[in-house]
Amino acid sequence: MSKNLVQFIIEEQRRVPGASGDFTGLLSDIISACKHIAHAVNKGELIGVLGSAGSENVQGETQKKLDVITNDIFIKATEWSGHLAAMASEEMDNIYPIPKQYPRGKYLLTFDPLDGSSNIDVNISVGTIFSILRCPEGVTNPTANDFLQPGVKQVCSGYALYGPSTMLVITTGHGVDGFTLDSDVGEFILTHPQMTIPADTQEFAINMSNRRYWEEPVQRYVEECTKGKDGGREKNFNMRWVASMVAEVHRILTRGGIFMYPFDTKEPGKAGKLRLLYEANPMSFIVEQAGGACSTGRERIMELKPTGLHQRVPVILGSKNEVERVVGYHKGT
Ligand code: AHG
Ligand code: MN
Ligand code: MN
Repeated sequence: MSKNLVQFIIEEQRRVPGASGDFTGLLSDIISACKHIAHAVNKGELIGVLGSAGSENVQGETQKKLDVITNDIFIKATEWSGHLAAMASEEMDNIYPIPKQYPRGKYLLTFDPLDGSSNIDVNISVGTIFSILRCPEGVTNPTANDFLQPGVKQVCSGYALYGPSTMLVITTGHGVDGFTLDSDVGEFILTHPQMTIPADTQEFAINMSNRRYWEEPVQRYVEECTKGKDGGREKNFNMRWVASMVAEVHRILTRGGIFMYPFDTKEPGKAGKLRLLYEANPMSFIVEQAGGACSTGRERIMELKPTGLHQRVPVILGSKNEVERVVGYHKGT
């Protein structure tokens, strides 16, 4: 019988002397949340979950019904079991401390319950992203400040991709493993052990409609990609843009590539579009564990000291040699 995700994490747990099983328990809850979200996303209009919720999140984005529903699924699946002290999500203005009726645990959870939600009404892939941090020693009543840990402190991160198949991809710092949901038996089966990102690529992903707002180094890089062999590069490039970071990162984990949501001047005061704590950091942990690189253009993403729960950062990630090239273009700017 093929190995399932619960078996996989229990075997991982055995490698950690003295492990209490808390982490394994928390991951089981997250797996359960992702299965429920997969079900809701898959049923779509049959259960009336498409369309706008008519509300805005803290970032001024219109919430889809499924943004709200999936956020609720994540809370309900993880709050009860005593492994978490608090959680934070794209869809909640403030942190969500574990309610008094439940025991509190030693982990903090951040998540983007539905990534790429502009895709949901048009039936294109969406995902869920999560990151697990340790609650600081001695803290039983965490505040937002306790979440402001650099990405290098993550214990685990992962994403679920709701595409033609539902997949869950995770890292605990020992490489990256991918699992596919077998909906007949309701289990995630290990199908993509130790995923790696090739160092070179001929594929880039960026929202070209923002071109006029980019900085010079990104302009230069993309210009070179589009010119290919006619512009000094040794190869021609292909381009993709799904508008769902989960789907882009999954493609990069599968066949390489570079993804950029760089700094732009489109909206003054916003350093980028993607959020550090529940998009950029968890994805960076996965990409780096698979041999890729992640940068803002100027700094390694996972070394940034966060300053806010919903802080945005420029993101350039994927195949190492291309990311390093873009970072090189930023030097001295
Ligand atoms: P979310 O749906 O969680 O707000 O995230 C969407 C993000 C990301 O997944 C994607 O890469 C990017 O926004 C797409 O942005 P554009 O619509 O500007 O292309
Ligand atoms: Mn997102
Ligand atoms: Mn989202």
